[in-house]
Amino acid sequence: MTAYPPLPPFPAGFHWGTSTSAYQIEGAPTEDGKGVSIWDTFVRRPGVIREAQTGDVACDHYHRTADDIALMSDLGVNAYRFSVAWTRIQPDGTGPANPAGLAFYDRLVDALLEKGITPFPTLFHWDLPQALEDRDGWLARDTAHRFADYAALLAGRLADRVEHWITLNEPFIHLAYGYAFGVHAPGRALMTDAIPVAHHQLLAHGLAVSALRSAGAARVLIANNLTPVWPATDAAEDRAAADAYDALHNRLFTDPILLGRYPDLSAYGTGPDLGGVVRDGDLELIAAPLDGLGVNYYNPTRVAAPGPEHGLPFQDVPIDGVPRSAFDWPVVPDGLRELLVSLADRYGAALPPIHITENGTSADDKVVAGRVADPERIAFLDGHIRALAQAMAAGVDVRGYLTWTLMDNFEWAEGFTQRFGLVHVDHETQARTPKDSYYWLRDRIKEWRSA
Ligand code: BGC
Repeated sequence: MTAYPPLPPFPAGFHWGTSTSAYQIEGAPTEDGKGVSIWDTFVRRPGVIREAQTGDVACDHYHRTADDIALMSDLGVNAYRFSVAWTRIQPDGTGPANPAGLAFYDRLVDALLEKGITPFPTLFHWDLPQALEDRDGWLARDTAHRFADYAALLAGRLADRVEHWITLNEPFIHLAYGYAFGVHAPGRALMTDAIPVAHHQLLAHGLAVSALRSAGAARVLIANNLTPVWPATDAAEDRAAADAYDALHNRLFTDPILLGRYPDLSAYGTGPDLGGVVRDGDLELIAAPLDGLGVNYYNPTRVAAPGPEHGLPFQDVPIDGVPRSAFDWPVVPDGLRELLVSLADRYGAALPPIHITENGTSADDKVVAGRVADPERIAFLDGHIRALAQAMAAGVDVRGYLTWTLMDNFEWAEGFTQRFGLVHVDHETQARTPKDSYYWLRDRIKEWRSA
């Protein structure tokens, strides 16, 4: 077994945790008055999900909450990021709250607090109420207002106990996969015509910040998927392609929030009004001060100038010479350091404290005689936590590291074929088996929390 040299101590109160999302773990899609979300609908389209799997049962977390909290408590984490299924709170995305839906998250929060685990609810992890999708989803400005109403209902119930709130999860991935390429719900393939979705999600974020604060929320964050962008070569065309990709993936979702303006999207044929949807006052709302930036990091992205008739101002090129996950994603721990340091350089005093709200890897994990050996995940976590420590030593203010994910779950279009968990889940029996990485992280957290 590899020996891992000790790390410098992390500051007192640093959050060590795991992240999950509602559709990926909960199951119980119609229980206690829950309404239909776009994922409930999308998974039924033929051919979109590997092996035609669905999240109807997922990890059955809705019924096994106590077991899953016990797993976290034994792991020794002091933070848990989960998402709330909007359709449990408002089955159709509008109107009064469903008491049974609120009660589920109320119980979850109390059970976490009882174990000394700080809850980090995310309000939206891609499972829009289908009723709102029927009214044009995030292409409609009204959805942003509906989101703020939902935020107010939820915080009205929980803000007396929940300090940290996350508005959206990865608005870039939702825009790209859900609306531009159509490989995630709601399955629209609009390419660059999807760009207004970015503005409506950001407006929803801005309106929700104010709704959450009015309801007593102390700290509000957003969780963005961010990636260092590397040009394939030093040639001017490749550097221009890297700038264009950086504008779309990173800056589109961070500049308006932290700087109050959109980046230059002219490479996508889009002006500063994002296809005519930005109205006076919107950017002021979107730039409402935040208490933290959630960073979801998986890997860097390498891009080159596109070939003729490519349709986009960049093309992805592989990152060679590094290990790859079961998903075939490049494993580049130092990319996390690079990303964090570049955020601090780019945004300076406008950058709020950072929480790493997702970071993890998939592997082909199997239970053999009651044990799951996952050395790749241990190496991944160790490398990334070291990179994080280096960024902190370089002066970046990071307050927490929440790994993706607690347990193997429904990995969107990949169904159950990609395992990202610290805990193995047998999707036939729901048996949970902590992997070697779970025990490794448990021991490390013990060291770091007591240092
Ligand atoms: C998402 C998670 C997902 C993970 C691994 C992130 O983009 O927020 O829901 O499971 O990546 O693909």
